[in-house]
Amino acid sequence: MKFGIIGVGVIADFHRQAIENVDGAECIGVYDKFQEPAKNFAEKHNIKVFDSIESMVKDGGCQIVTIATPSGWHMEPAIEAMKAGAHVLCEKPLEVTTEKIDKMIATAKECGVKLGSVLQFRTFEGTKKAKAVIESGKLGKILIADAYIKYYRTQEYYDSAKWRGTWELDGGGATMNQGVHWVDCISWLAGDAEWVCSLASTLNHNIEVEDVCHSIVKWKSGAQGVIEATTCAKPGFESRIEIHGEKGSILLEDTKIKKMSIDGEEDYEDTGSEKGGGYSDPKAITTAGHEHHVRDMMEAVEQNRDPFIPPTEARRSVDLITAMYRSSREGGRVSL
Ligand SMILES: NC(=O)c1ccc[n+]([C@@H]2O[C@H](COP(=O)([O-])OP(=O)(O)OC[C@H]3O[C@@H](n4cnc5c(N)ncnc54)[C@H](O)[C@@H]3O)[C@@H](O)[C@H]2O)c1
Repeated sequence: MKFGIIGVGVIADFHRQAIENVDGAECIGVYDKFQEPAKNFAEKHNIKVFDSIESMVKDGGCQIVTIATPSGWHMEPAIEAMKAGAHVLCEKPLEVTTEKIDKMIATAKECGVKLGSVLQFRTFEGTKKAKAVIESGKLGKILIADAYIKYYRTQEYYDSAKWRGTWELDGGGATMNQGVHWVDCISWLAGDAEWVCSLASTLNHNIEVEDVCHSIVKWKSGAQGVIEATTCAKPGFESRIEIHGEKGSILLEDTKIKKMSIDGEEDYEDTGSEKGGGYSDPKAITTAGHEHHVRDMMEAVEQNRDPFIPPTEARRSVDLITAMYRSSREGGRVSL
């Protein structure tokens, strides 16, 4: 299947490599608002550069388009690509508001194409195993669900592109950009939130958005928990999700189950060496998760099924995070 990438910044090359690593997938070209970097990227990797999204899809024959532009500029190219007839695999967060996500969902429906979201931490075995165990009921009723998301980003990282750290194009800081992966995973494991009460602050960077956010979450299941997200935790730590049920606990760290302890069963720990990464250095991530998304998008198209993370699912983390920001701005609880 022919893929094209929109946006040739940091994450674009991870997508290109992931596409290259998947049998039957081919990256045919790129489009960027800025022609010079797009030309350089294309020359370096011996692929085409297009001067519009439409020509990438219609002339280039691109079947799946990857959106790798700034987060608050996902909707426009995604809609353009879908209207030209392509399926879309979009980087996280799907967009920075639920209103924009709803427009993307409506366009996908109208055009009869697939829209999938990259949220690769859900694709790892540890997360999937935790989901299966929770769904099997082995933990009993879930009582507590917490996420600790302690990244480190330098001021130079925020200064490296104008959109970083802005409300309009980043949509938020530590929670919307980095934390969205884990807010997505915990929402997948614990279900929807009923309300949230948050304190978001900018403590150690010169940016508009928050670099630390603490939230108390009441989950609809009746469980409660905390979500902490920061980019101030030097030197950066692997993220953790901790789920405690009536009959036991699952502690997830990065891609792995660090400890699973269930009544009547032997304790379990994942032994694999796979790392999701990115806590200290945004460029230190594996392509394994992106490969999973590429493979899944191809299968979704071939089998005419939903992608692994359909847009309605990707919307949930953005809904929760924007509620956190509203709670911090206005004070008090915000219901979802
Ligand atoms: N899944 C992950 O682990 C992961 C990691 C990093 C970034 N991301 C996501 O990928 C996206 C891009 O992040 P990045 O770090 O690569 O950003 P970046 O600034 O390095 O690259 C963005 C690219 O988009 C281009 N661009 C900007 N406006 C455009 C427009 N209007 N039309 C076309 N191209 C345009 C820029 O020229 C640039 O080449 C963000 O949404 C980010 O959240 C995901």
